[in-house]
Amino acid sequence: MTLLNYCALVRVNNTISDRLTMAIFPGMKDLKDLTSTIADTIAPGPAVKITIPEEYDIQPGDDHAFMARALKLAEKGICSTHPNPRVGCVITKNGVIVGEGYHRVTGQPHAEVHALRAAGRYAEGATLYVNLEPCCHQGRTPPCTDAIIKAGVRRVVIAMEDPNPEVNHSGVSALRKAGIEVETGVNNDSASWLNRGYVKRIKTGMPWVTLKIAASMDGKTAMSNGESQWITSEQAREDAHQLRASSSAIMTGIGTVLRDDPQMTARLSNVADMKTEPTERQPLRVIVDSRLSTPASARILSQPGDVLIVTAPSNLSDAALYSQSNVEVSSCEMAGRAINLEALMQMLGEKEINNLMLEAGAKLSGSMLKENLVDELVIYMAPDLLGSDARGMFLIPGLDSISEKLNMEFRDVRRVGRDMRITLQILPQHS
Ligand SMILES: NC(=O)c1ccc[n+]([C@@H]2O[C@H](COP(=O)([O-])OP(=O)(O)OC[C@H]3O[C@@H](n4cnc5c(N)ncnc54)[C@H](OP(=O)(O)O)[C@@H]3O)[C@@H](O)[C@H]2O)c1
Repeated sequence: MTLLNYCALVRVNNTISDRLTMAIFPGMKDLKDLTSTIADTIAPGPAVKITIPEEYDIQPGDDHAFMARALKLAEKGICSTHPNPRVGCVITKNGVIVGEGYHRVTGQPHAEVHALRAAGRYAEGATLYVNLEPCCHQGRTPPCTDAIIKAGVRRVVIAMEDPNPEVNHSGVSALRKAGIEVETGVNNDSASWLNRGYVKRIKTGMPWVTLKIAASMDGKTAMSNGESQWITSEQAREDAHQLRASSSAIMTGIGTVLRDDPQMTARLSNVADMKTEPTERQPLRVIVDSRLSTPASARILSQPGDVLIVTAPSNLSDAALYSQSNVEVSSCEMAGRAINLEALMQMLGEKEINNLMLEAGAKLSGSMLKENLVDELVIYMAPDLLGSDARGMFLIPGLDSISEKLNMEFRDVRRVGRDMRITLQILPQHS
C-alpha cells in the first residue's frame, strides 16, 4: 500500500472535506473503489457515509469532467497570476485523480509542474488535463512539455491552444513528437472565457475591458450635483471589490477623481473565505487626465500599488508635481483635446495589462463604448429610482438611428444582496 497526498472534494457524512490523505491500493480502478478506500482508511465505521459531490462524480475517461476540475483549479489563480494566464492541471490514472495543481503566481512553477510533483511516479502512463497548451519555451520557468515527457505521461488533453506566438501549437507538436497522444478543444469555450484578457492582449495588443457601473432601476448613476455614494448595497460593493482584485488594472477619469476622491483599490473584507490564492497585489490604477489636474493630495495616489496618470504630451514637464515613488506620469497621443483612447489601450497592452476594469463617469465610459473599446459590462442595479434629473450611465452622442445601436448579449444575471448584477458582452458592431 502506498500513501500519497490526494486533493479531492469528498463528502464525509455530508461535510465537505477539502484535502485528504488517502491510500491508493494496487488494483483500485475507479471512483467506486476510491470512495470505499476513503471509507476504510480515513473514516471507518458503519455510521460514515461517503459520497463524491455530483460535480466530482467523474467516470473514468470523462474528459469533460476532468477538464472542468482543471478549470476550477485554474480559477484559484484569478487574482494572482497576472500577467500570466490562469491555468489548472489534473492528472488521472485509471480514472482516479493522482495529482493536481494550478499556477499561483508569475515566476513560480506552472500548473503542470505542481500536478506532476503531486502525482510523483503515478504520472507514468497517466492522462494529463490542462486548460491551456503546455509551454515549450524557456520563459520565467523551464518548458512544461519537457517535464511532461520526462514523467512518462501517456495522454494529454488540452482545452485550448496558447495564442502566444512563442507557444502556438509548438507545445502540441513537441508532445506528439515524443509519442504522447494529444487531444485539444475539450471545454474550449469555458477555457477561452477564463483567459479572455490574456487571449485578447496576445491577439490584439490591447486589454479586455470590463466596464463596471452602479445604477438605479431608471439607469441613473449619480444625482445632478454628482453625488453617487452609495447607489448599491454593501454586498454589491464587496462583489465589485472581487472584480477589482481579479483585474490587472483599474481605470478612471479625472471627473471621478475630482468629484469622489476614490481610493480605487481592491479591498476584500472576507479574504479568508475566498477560494482564490491569497495575494497582496493591487491592480495598477490608471487616471485619464489630459490637463494633468489630479491633485497631488488625491487619495488614489497614496494607496498601496502603482498609479499611472495619462496626460497630454504638453503637460509632461509638470510631472514633478507628483513626488510619490509609486506614481508615473505618461503622455499619450491626443484626439483633439481628449486622450486618444485606442492609443491608450495599446499603451496598456504593452504594459501587459490583460484585464482592465473601467470605473468612470458617464463621459469616459461613454467615449470608451463609442470607440468600441469595451468588451464586457457589469452593471450593479439597485431597486430604486433616482429621478429624471439624475445623471445617466453613458454619454454617447451621435447615434441618430436605431440601426446604430450598440449590440450586446446577456452572459449572466444574478442577485447580489438587494441588487442585481447583470453581465453583458458587447457583440461585434456593424460598421
Ligand atoms: N455610479 C457609478 O458606478 C459611478 C462610477 C464612477 C463615477 N461615477 C460618477 O461619475 C461622475 C463623474 O463623471 P464624469 O463623466 O464627470 O467623469 P469621468 O468620466 O470619470 O471623467 C471624464 C473626464 O476624463 C477626461 N478625458 C480625457 N480623455 C477623455 C476621452 N477621450 N473621453 C472622455 N473623457 C476623457 C476628461 O477630462 P480632461 O479633459 O480634463 O482630461 C473628462 O472630463 C461623478 O459624479 C462620479 O460619482 C459614478
